[in-house]
Amino acid sequence: MPNRFQVAVLVSGSGSNLQAIIDASADPSYAAEVCVVIADRPGIRALQRAGDAGIPTAVVPWSLGREPATARVCATADRFGANALVLAGFSRILAPEAIARFPTRIVNVHPSLLPAFPATIHAVREAIEHGVKVTGVTVHFVTEDVDAGPIIAQEAVCVAPGDTVATLHARMQEVEHRLYPAVVHALGRGRLRTEGRTVVWREEA
Ligand code: GRF
Repeated sequence: MPNRFQVAVLVSGSGSNLQAIIDASADPSYAAEVCVVIADRPGIRALQRAGDAGIPTAVVPWSLGREPATARVCATADRFGANALVLAGFSRILAPEAIARFPTRIVNVHPSLLPAFPATIHAVREAIEHGVKVTGVTVHFVTEDVDAGPIIAQEAVCVAPGDTVATLHARMQEVEHRLYPAVVHALGRGRLRTEGRTVVWREEA
């Protein structure tokens, strides 16, 4: 389906959020299409998912160094015609070049209600250890400060007595798999306008 908003999805792991976006894009009315999946390591489930869906893949090892690796990610995304970068369980911090090349066109999903528990890959465990009663999912624009960009969408998830990292994360991922494709669709429709720190959702035309 040509003319749809093209997204490069960046992954490091299982790729269940990637899968949710791929599944959403099967609907022709969905605004976005995954043009390439870029991983920081080979052999991960996310790359299998991309392959199964017939989506091109690339591996950019972070052993290159952050700046050279970021440059290669941007060049790969450009080569496949990406309009935006969608970070979906991507465990690396992009160098400033990426933010300059894709201004307000990089989004991330984080498993906490930011600004709580930022800049960690253990946000779910830290929330349980802190004893919070409510945590949740945040989708935000990526800026140079890690997990501190303007918030696009959030949804709360209650912590149940006896929750483990696995049980709580599983409920949070159900939310992610609904929320993240919805944000990517809105981005593709040009509905997200940033006013300072506030992201305003325009009405769908
Ligand atoms: C998600 O929980 C996301 O919030 C976090 O990493 C996890 C990635 O999961 N950034 P998956 O690879 O999409 O299954």
